[in-house]
Amino acid sequence: MQYLEKLFGLTGKTAIVTGGGRGIGQVIAHGFARAGAEVVILSRSGAQETVDKILRDGGKAYDLKADVTDEKQVDTVLAEIEKRSGKVDILFNNAGICIHKDTLNASIAEWREVIDINLTGEYIMARAVGRMMIEKEIRGNIINMASMSGTIVNIPQWQASYNASKAGVIHLTKSLAMEWAGYGIRVNSLSPGYIATPMSADVEQELKDAWTPLMPTHEMGDPEALVPAVLYLASPAATYTTGSDVLVDGAYTCF
Ligand SMILES: NC(=O)c1ccc[n+]([C@@H]2O[C@H](COP(=O)([O-])OP(=O)(O)OC[C@H]3O[C@@H](n4cnc5c(N)ncnc54)[C@H](O)[C@@H]3O)[C@@H](O)[C@H]2O)c1
Repeated sequence: MQYLEKLFGLTGKTAIVTGGGRGIGQVIAHGFARAGAEVVILSRSGAQETVDKILRDGGKAYDLKADVTDEKQVDTVLAEIEKRSGKVDILFNNAGICIHKDTLNASIAEWREVIDINLTGEYIMARAVGRMMIEKEIRGNIINMASMSGTIVNIPQWQASYNASKAGVIHLTKSLAMEWAGYGIRVNSLSPGYIATPMSADVEQELKDAWTPLMPTHEMGDPEALVPAVLYLASPAATYTTGSDVLVDGAYTCF
């Protein structure tokens, strides 16, 4: 147990999870807390449910409101986190949206909204947290939420803005990993396949029925199945893992 604790334990660490009010972010926030971290959940409208869940289990957590596309709001919450927690060791850059629309019918406003949240939002968060880590000489790490859609083109729905945003996240991750390796800051991305969350639940049944035969496992992943991969990336066990994209997709991208 001591061996595993040394490799994967997050006691004494402070971890930010963006978009942690529900879905994958909520489950990862809980996972970080169970591994010993104090968790700060950032969301646009509050994340009381996630905080309560963690506190009920004896963990440490609080939530702050911020839109990840708004640089000023991000700087304000980071200053607040610095006051309350002293530092940030881990960022799980998770907030994101998806719009299913073919390119000829999608508006430029819709393209911009997806790129703004999924790519620019992750850039704003990573930059602000990276700056704090460098100033405080913290050898922390950042996990950017990508997707298998950053590597393949999903069918039958069209979602060029989402796919492009996630491909951007994978290369942003590699770029930051190179830029900050000298500071001891690791930057990796996570690329899940279809995961059962409110985001995927919102899609029409016809589409879900079309996805099932395309999934080698014939079922969506449980968000809990992502927790061990994220804990690995966030933990001392991953000391030499940086610039990597970790696919957890039930073999979807194998064909
Ligand atoms: N569910 C899947 O199948 C799947 C697969 C691969 C990747 N992902 C990615 O995982 C992440 C989480 O997805 P999910 O399925 O849990 O979706 P979700 O819709 O349940 O959660 C997304 C969260 O992000 C928040 N958010 C959106 N815009 C924001 C903004 N501007 N500022 C702050 N918070 C904002 C939402 O309020 C929500 O809480 C997303 O980046 C998504 O692209 C999801």
